[in-house]
Amino acid sequence: MTTHGDQDRIAAAAAIDEARLWSHLLEFGEIGGIGGGGVCRLALGAEELAARRHITGWARSMGYQVFVDPVANLFVRRDGTDPGAAPVITGSHIDTQPQGGRFDGAYGVIAALEALAALDGASVRTRHPIEVVAWTNEEGVRFTPGAMGSMVFSGALALSDIAERRGSDGVTLSAALASALAATPQATFRPTVRPLVAYVEAHIEQGPELETKGFPIGVVEGIQGVRWFDVDVVGSGAHAGTTPLSRRRDAFQDAMRIVNALNEWMSDPNDVLRFTVGRFEVTPNSRNTVPARVGFGIDLRHPDAGILREKGDRIAAMAAAAARHCEVSVREVFTKAPATFDRRVIDTIETVTRLLRIPSLRMPSGAFHDALFLNDVCPTGMIFIPCERGISHDPAESITAAQAAAGARVLAATLVALAA
Ligand code: HGY
Ligand code: MN
Ligand code: MN
Repeated sequence: MTTHGDQDRIAAAAAIDEARLWSHLLEFGEIGGIGGGGVCRLALGAEELAARRHITGWARSMGYQVFVDPVANLFVRRDGTDPGAAPVITGSHIDTQPQGGRFDGAYGVIAALEALAALDGASVRTRHPIEVVAWTNEEGVRFTPGAMGSMVFSGALALSDIAERRGSDGVTLSAALASALAATPQATFRPTVRPLVAYVEAHIEQGPELETKGFPIGVVEGIQGVRWFDVDVVGSGAHAGTTPLSRRRDAFQDAMRIVNALNEWMSDPNDVLRFTVGRFEVTPNSRNTVPARVGFGIDLRHPDAGILREKGDRIAAMAAAAARHCEVSVREVFTKAPATFDRRVIDTIETVTRLLRIPSLRMPSGAFHDALFLNDVCPTGMIFIPCERGISHDPAESITAAQAAAGARVLAATLVALAA
C-alpha cells in the first residue's frame, strides 16, 4: 500500500533522467580534465572556479537561486511551499585530488542537481526548501585541512583562524576566497544558514564492497576517524661528493628512519588501521646535494576512537626518537573522531530503497566526507554507489550511467521524504 507521500517519492525517482545525468557528469568532468578520465580541480583554483561558474549557470537556467557563504560554499536553492522553513541540504565537493577521478565529490553535486530537476519534472512540491551545496576544499590538497568548507560551516573551524594560511602554491586562503566569490557574481552572498532539517550526501563508495557483494546502493552508517600530521625534518645541505657520511645531517635519511619506525608502530594484523605517507618533499631535491630538509604528510585513520588516539598520540615522540642528526617537528593539522550518522536519516534512506525496490547494504565509510562535519549540526546520512574495483583518487575511477542514476533516484526520493 503506497501513501500519498510515497507517490511523490516514486514520481521524483521516476523523473530522474539517466541520459541527462550522465551527459552532465561527463561534461562536468571535462572541467579541469587531465586526460584518461582524470581531473585536477584544486580548491579555489582556476579550474574549480570554472566548475563553480558551470554550476551557477545551470542552476540559474533552472530558475533556482544561488548563494555563497563566507568560506565560498556554493548553494543552489529550490524553494519549498513554506518560505520560512529550514532547508534540507544535499551535495558534496567539486575540488579534486591532483590526479583525481571525475566522480569523487562531483557525483554528489551533479546527482543532487539532477534530483532537483526530477522534482521539477514530476511537479513535486516540498514544504521545506532543498539546497544543493558544493563545499569548499574537501580534499585538503592545496589548503589544509580537508573538509574546510564544511568545518567552517559547522563551526568546527573559525575562518579568522585560517584566513591568512598559505596554500601549497603560496597564495593565502583569503585571496583565494576573494577570487572564488568574484568568479560567481550571480551568487548572492549570505552568512551561514542555520538551522538545517537534515543533510544527505550521495558519493561513490571509493572502496570495493558494493561491487564485490553486488549491491547498487550503500546506506552509510558512519565514517571512521581521521588524523593528519605534518612532519618537518631539518638537517644541513652539503656537497654529495666531499662530505663524509660521518659529518652529515641528512634530512632524507632521518625521515626514512622516522617512517620506518612509524610503519612498525602502525602495523595492524587485521588490516583495519590506515597509515599513509602520501606527500614527501625533499629540499633542495638535487641528486648531488645532501638533503637539507624533508617535509612529509601523514594520514592516519581508524574506526575506533581509542586506537586512533593511542596510535596518533605517539607519533611525535617516535619521530624524535628515530631521528639521529636532524631537528624534527610534528604538527597535527586535521583531526576528527569516528562518527555515527543519524538513525532516522539512515532508516529514511533504507526505507526509500525498499520503496523503489533497489537492493541496499548498510555499511561504514572508509573515506571521510563533508557529512562527517554536518553530522555535528544536523541529522545526517549518506548514499553510496559502487565504483569500479573500488578505485578512487586516481584517473581510473569509474562508474556506469545506470549506477549513477540508481543513486540519484534514491537521493531524489530521500529528499522528498525529508523535505515533506
Ligand atoms: O581523503 C578522503 O577520505 C576524502 O576522499 N577526501
Ligand atoms: Mn569525496
Ligand atoms: Mn576524495
